[in-house]
Amino acid sequence: MKKNIDRRGFIKKAGAWGVGAAAALAGCGRIGFEPPSPSEIPPPEAQGLVSHSPDSLYLPHGGDGAWFNPWWRSPNRFGSFLRWKFYYRNPFLAEKARPPEVPRVENDGAYLSEPERGASITWAGHCTFVVKDGADTFVTDPHFGSRALIYGRVQPPGLPVEKIPGDAFCVLSHNHYDHMNEWTANALPESVRWYVPRGLGKWFGERGRRAEELDWWQSVRHGKWKITCLPAQHWSNRFWMARNGSLWCGWLIESGERKYLFAGDSGFFHGFAEYGRKFGPIDVAMLPIGSYEPRWFMRYAHMKPGEAYRAFKELRARWMIPMHWGTFDLTDEPVDAPPRELRRAVGESGGNMGQIRLMAVGERWRLG
Ligand SMILES: [Fe+2]
Repeated sequence: MKKNIDRRGFIKKAGAWGVGAAAALAGCGRIGFEPPSPSEIPPPEAQGLVSHSPDSLYLPHGGDGAWFNPWWRSPNRFGSFLRWKFYYRNPFLAEKARPPEVPRVENDGAYLSEPERGASITWAGHCTFVVKDGADTFVTDPHFGSRALIYGRVQPPGLPVEKIPGDAFCVLSHNHYDHMNEWTANALPESVRWYVPRGLGKWFGERGRRAEELDWWQSVRHGKWKITCLPAQHWSNRFWMARNGSLWCGWLIESGERKYLFAGDSGFFHGFAEYGRKFGPIDVAMLPIGSYEPRWFMRYAHMKPGEAYRAFKELRARWMIPMHWGTFDLTDEPVDAPPRELRRAVGESGGNMGQIRLMAVGERWRLG
C-alpha cells in the first residue's frame, strides 16, 4: 500500500502510535474489576432519553461543527471510554484467544466489468458492500485499507479495490476509522462520486475527491438513483476533527425498482420504525450486528444482534444482511461472535433466520 510520508502523514502516524501506546497501557490496566450486571445499567430514560416520538427525528440536530441526536444526546464521555479500557475486565478474553472463524470465498472482482442483468451484492468485509445493479455500481462505507487506526484487518478485503469502476458512487455513514478510510479514498478513481453527511465534504475535497454533503432527510439524484440521508443514533470523532464536528447517518438508495437501506453505525432507536412506515417495504437492509460489548458503554451507539433483528422487522424489509463483524476486532466480544448471538436472539424471539443472509467475506449474492 502507498506510503504517505508528508508532514501531515507523519503527524497522523505519530498520533496513531500515541493512541496505540495508550490503548496498550489501558489493556495493562484492566485488572480485576467486574463489569456491571445488566440490572445496574441505567435505562435510557435515566440517561437523558428525550423522546421515542417520530417527530423527534425531524428536530434540529446541530449545525457546522456541533451535531447531536435530538431524541437522546449521547451519555458517553471520554471518561466512559477510560472506564471501559482501564477498569473493566473483558469477560470474553478466553473466547477471544481462539482464532476467529470468519467464512471467506475468493472473488477477483472481474464480474464488475461485465454486464449485470439483475443485481448483486458482494461483501468486502465490515460495512463495505459493492452493489452492482444493472449498469450501475455503488459502494457502502468503502474500506479496503489494512487498518482502522490501530486495529488491523482480520482478513484482506473480499475483492480488489482496483476493480471498482470509475463511474461508481459511494455512500459514507460517518468519519470513524473503520468506516472512512483515507487509503481507500485515495485508491478509488477520482471520478467516483461520494455522498457524505454534513461536515465531511472538505476532507474529500482536500484529497481531490468529489463529495456532496447531505443533511438528514435530504435526497439527491444520481442517474436512476434517489439517495436519501437518514438519521442514525451515533456520533463522530477522528484525529484533527472535532468530536461530533461532522454528521453521521444511514442511507436509503432507491432505483425505482429496488430499495436498499444501509444503516451505517447506529444504536437501536425509533428511526427504524419510522423508515419502515415511510419507505417500506425495503428490499435489502444492511444492518450492523457487531461492536456491542460492553453494553453499558456500547448500547447507545451500537446495536446488539437481537436489536438489529428487531430493526429489520420494523423496517419491513425483505432481506437482512448483517454487517460490522468479522473484520476489525474493535470491542469486547469476539469478532466472530455476532452471528452466533444473532442466531440465539432470533430463536429466542420466535423469529427465523430465513430472511437473513449471513454472507462470507468476498461472497457475491445475486438478488435476481
Ligand atoms: Fe462508528
